[in-house]
Amino acid sequence: FSSFNYRNNQLYVEDVPLAAIAAEFGTPCYIYSSAAIRSAYQAFEHAFGQRNHLICYAVKANSNLAVLNLLARLGSGFDIVSGGELQRVLKAGGDPQKTVFSGVGKTREEMRAALAANILCFNVESEMELITLNEIAGQMKKIAPTSLRVNPDVDANTHPYISTGLKENKFGIPAAEAERIYALAQQLPNIRIAGLDCHIGSQLTEIEPFIEAAHKMLDLLKRLQTMHITIEHLDLGGGLGVRYDQETPPTITEYIKALCTATEDYPQQQLLIEPGRSMVGNAGILLTQVCYLKHSPYRNFAIVDAAMNDLLRPTLYQAYHAIQSTTKRDAEEKLYQIVGPVCETGDFLGHDRRLALAKDDLLAIMSAGAYGMSMSSNYNTRPRAAEIMVEGDAVHLVRARETVEDLYALEKIPS
Ligand code: LLP
Repeated sequence: FSSFNYRNNQLYVEDVPLAAIAAEFGTPCYIYSSAAIRSAYQAFEHAFGQRNHLICYAVKANSNLAVLNLLARLGSGFDIVSGGELQRVLKAGGDPQKTVFSGVGKTREEMRAALAANILCFNVESEMELITLNEIAGQMKKIAPTSLRVNPDVDANTHPYISTGLKENKFGIPAAEAERIYALAQQLPNIRIAGLDCHIGSQLTEIEPFIEAAHKMLDLLKRLQTMHITIEHLDLGGGLGVRYDQETPPTITEYIKALCTATEDYPQQQLLIEPGRSMVGNAGILLTQVCYLKHSPYRNFAIVDAAMNDLLRPTLYQAYHAIQSTTKRDAEEKLYQIVGPVCETGDFLGHDRRLALAKDDLLAIMSAGAYGMSMSSNYNTRPRAAEIMVEGDAVHLVRARETVEDLYALEKIPS
């Protein structure tokens, strides 16, 4: 399923030509298809069938209020990693009772806000964090529902920067310590043990590491049961990959069916998942315009108006994003380096792309719905891109383009 298709040699999002959006809102802009997000959410929902489950969308992948609101209306829960993301979920109409709070460094302030909002669960990542959470909950006369995030030490076979479940990573509690810390949690008066959690990495393209992690979690769950510790839910994290280029990740249905099968002897435990990329990755593009073409004896450059500050993934992870011209034309193709205006050699969106280009052409940087806008910055005092959500033939501006005044609004020259 793709919402981005050519009709009469023009690239459309749902029923709207991308060129029409550029004409109205300018470039660069992020464009999201609500049908694509809905379709991914429903694929998760249907695959679970009768299994007791909760989908907690990982807000960090794309935290625009319109995206969160769409998912909230579909019934989604949320996985947050900061007080800021909590505030976004609440603002967008998300249900705190379907919200879990992950992350290695929750501050006391963030714990207070999440306790006040009555979230579903804290995914606690260290003994010290557990003790702090107990203390804060005590001060507020609250009981904190808690899972321990356990590091299962499995190799997710993904980019080292986005692999999180190896024993040398900073995430989670080492499996060997889990029982001791659960026993401690059981003793703490303002902690209620709710679940067991893991997350092994992102952009996984095989099912085996997920299953290996699930089995390790179930082994631990069994040992906890013998200690009379009740685990109400098993949170298996996020991480399902999407197709950027030639990858062949499992489908959402294959992935969920495999998780359900792996856990079928534990129907009492509600299954939680925290998908981010697989929900929104292929539901968005970054639309950019060619400023200049520059041909040298060595290289052809297409300098576009989007840059590493808009989409950091190519620079940071050498990530591949397909790049398509919004107008298909019969002209000679050349091998292009697609680069932005930022003053860094690492500022590129794609290397060696075969395209037939002319000045002012529009290019769609594909699969940019996840970790695109949410990782953007203002480097080089570049106002951040506008965000647009399309629904059939309706076009909604869901974040206005920043102005330069926005960027220095908080700054002061000392008198
Ligand atoms: N749960 C936890 C605890 C996480 O740390 C993450 C992502 C997710 C869920 C969602 O994972 P997903 O389903 O999206 O793979 N910026 C990188 C990705 C970083 C992922 C961080 N954690 C990128 O652009 O590839």
